[in-house]
Amino acid sequence: MSEPTAIPALAARAAALDAADELGKLRERFTLPDGVVYLDGNSLGALPAGVAAATADVVARQWGELLIRSWDESRWWTAPERIGDRIAPLVGAAPGQVVVGDSTSVNLFKALVGAARLAGPGRTRLLVDAATFPTDGYIAQSAARMTGLTAVPVDPADVPAALGPDTAVVLLNQVDYRTGRLHDLPGLTAAARAAGAVVVWDLCHSAGALPVGLDAHAVDLAVGCTYKYLNGGPGSPAYLYIAERHQAAFDSPLPGWNGHADPFAMTPDYRPAEGAARGRVGTPDILSMLALEAALDAWDGVRIEDVRAKSLALTDFFLECVAAYVPQGLVESVTPAGHDQRGSQVSLRTENAREVMGELISRGVIGDFRAPDVLRFGFTPLYVGFADAERAARTLGHIFG
Ligand SMILES: Cc1ncc(COP(=O)(O)O)c(C=O)c1O
Repeated sequence: MSEPTAIPALAARAAALDAADELGKLRERFTLPDGVVYLDGNSLGALPAGVAAATADVVARQWGELLIRSWDESRWWTAPERIGDRIAPLVGAAPGQVVVGDSTSVNLFKALVGAARLAGPGRTRLLVDAATFPTDGYIAQSAARMTGLTAVPVDPADVPAALGPDTAVVLLNQVDYRTGRLHDLPGLTAAARAAGAVVVWDLCHSAGALPVGLDAHAVDLAVGCTYKYLNGGPGSPAYLYIAERHQAAFDSPLPGWNGHADPFAMTPDYRPAEGAARGRVGTPDILSMLALEAALDAWDGVRIEDVRAKSLALTDFFLECVAAYVPQGLVESVTPAGHDQRGSQVSLRTENAREVMGELISRGVIGDFRAPDVLRFGFTPLYVGFADAERAARTLGHIFG
């Protein structure tokens, strides 16, 4: 398939921006197929270069040779806290507050029931982002039923008005998965806490894309996945953040033996471990977890503030290229134009979005489709460049042409 012709001024701008990009060399830390523009790192991050060898070592040596000794000698047992401490600086958390394991859905359950228990009796409502990713809504409904609360869907912008003395828990996404809208984590956290509620943030679409500042903004609890901007691999384990001030009182609804203060005492009574480790449940998924640990090497020496600056520059430039290449009126951005309201993706609404995305993918530009009519383009600054943004917009324009 021949490449559509570029607008020279945009191609030149892309080349100049890539040449000046301090993060551009980080692409070498990833294994990406030639000729592909990968704009789906907000769904599944690319493969970091060291993961294949690290994983082979885990399988062949740590498991194959050391066998059960690896729980200790290869530090398998402490991996959930150790890797949590590597994720912590990326989300603005001091050590000891993030534990890795299970899926985001399972961690949402722990966080929401734990939050309801922290909120105590006398409060009746669990406010949940009305546009949330479905699993958050499903789990919020179930957690509410189990704890005697009523789950109430609320647009994040309306949360301050909806808060009251009856609010027990608030569950919000920092970045909306469909539109890419960034919500006001500092402001909404402060409002929820001022009302006496416990706030839980889902960081799936923000961790690794922008500064989160969990400690700085006094967030209570947070969850997130590691397979998007953290590049942990398909189905890599998620994480749970429990602010230090809540740890002693955090009462997990899944008190498995791994979260026990002394798991190998094998006692019939449950005594929770100190710190974030009480968020553990059962035996960790070591192969995925250690693949994630190796993947996090891609972040060595990287400042999340620089990632954010490049992410905004990339999405600005992509929107500019879309305006130049795509005939007017055929696509509409549903991602806010304002930097303070934009995550690290651009979502374009269009007719026949599913077919359009299929065409893009067949031409080597990989984004994704979200029902009913949204084309999503995720920009991962560690491995996406400005020439990628230009080519993606140019290919989109060609499809409409
Ligand atoms: C915002 C958000 N929350 C939760 C999930 C689900 O996570 P998991 O499948 O790991 O439970 C996703 C998955 O894409 C998501 O985007």
